[in-house]
Amino acid sequence: MIVAIIAAAGSGERFKAKIPKALIHLGDKTLLEHAIARIAPVVQQIIVTAPAGYEEEIKTIVGDDVVVVTGGSTRSESVRRALAVADSSAQFILVHDAARSLASTALAHSVITSLQSGEVAVIPGLPEVNTVNVVDGDGYVLSAPDRASLRAVQTPQGFRTSVLHEAHKQASDATDDATLVSKLGHKVKVILGEESALKITTPADLAIAMTFIGTSSEFRTGVGVDAHAFSADKERKLWLAGLLWPDEVGVDGHSDGDVAAHAICDALFAATSTGDLGSNFGTSRPEYAGASGSTLLAETLKIISAQGYSISNVTVQIIGNRPRIGARRAEAIQALSTALGGAAVSISATTTDGMGLTGEGKGIAAIATALVFK
Ligand code: CTP
Ligand code: MG
Repeated sequence: MIVAIIAAAGSGERFKAKIPKALIHLGDKTLLEHAIARIAPVVQQIIVTAPAGYEEEIKTIVGDDVVVVTGGSTRSESVRRALAVADSSAQFILVHDAARSLASTALAHSVITSLQSGEVAVIPGLPEVNTVNVVDGDGYVLSAPDRASLRAVQTPQGFRTSVLHEAHKQASDATDDATLVSKLGHKVKVILGEESALKITTPADLAIAMTFIGTSSEFRTGVGVDAHAFSADKERKLWLAGLLWPDEVGVDGHSDGDVAAHAICDALFAATSTGDLGSNFGTSRPEYAGASGSTLLAETLKIISAQGYSISNVTVQIIGNRPRIGARRAEAIQALSTALGGAAVSISATTTDGMGLTGEGKGIAAIATALVFK
């Protein structure tokens, strides 16, 4: 019997997302789901540590076969809490980071094979490519260990069950489990790790991980345009780019007339070949008559997600003499991005020198592009 503990209770401070790092998407799955899918074939029990408050959400994601426990304030504390519920008949325990989402099944298998051959602690590691210095508190170099003897250590790390329990008997703390085991005097064997087992710490790491799962060949792009005339009714409110513009006269139309939101919806539909605004929200779905731009964006996201698409980014250019977008650009980006589940959004604006499309001041138009991937 082999148990895997997947540490996923961190907040991901260095990633700077608004959700815990393990719940960030890499392609069509969360980091946690990637990690589970790859380790599951070689273990009989999986225990995940969840950030406090996210237990139920994580249970829904991972399903009934995975045990979810609330993590602690440090990684070591999280591992201890998982260890407390590990099946007592386990011969070996693998401890893995959800953040190393792409560590392969083959790597976990190699760790287990090495344990089965008699090692008590086995960890993957890569030869260090950087020169690493030890510095003092003031930033002065104390020493430079020989690079050839350094390994950048990864997970999953495998242990004979009794050894891992011994290492966690006291409330000691380290950034991995092998450090605790090694401190007790046990031999820790380093086997060759994988570049794809990188720890996803920042958005740049996520981009690298993306290249490993190879979604780049399935990028698709789309364009969408919308225009509405200013209303003769001076009381009509202007909604544009997900925001209410209180000092401006609104535009005519059934809906709130948010041309920026509508153009983005159409660009997303075009990129994913899922029709357009009319075919998705027209007469066949009367519940969307009069819906806000933000509602339509959120609904569009659902439609394209159901087809397996994620948004890489969207851009929209608003064309018209007013309102002036610049002062509220950040706010508008935030509103559109929130409606699109946190997607990257950029907004530009232009006038057309008194000519043509809206240059005569009769209304507002918008042109949007979307890049999506499967
Ligand atoms: N982890 C955990 N419990 C904690 C802290 C971290 O289970 N109290 C997990 C993380 O979820 C992650 C792994 O340990 O999968 C490695 O930690 P790290 O990459 O540092 O993730 P975070 O702590 O979430 O990130 P940061 O340090 O940037 O906040
Ligand atoms: Mg951390």
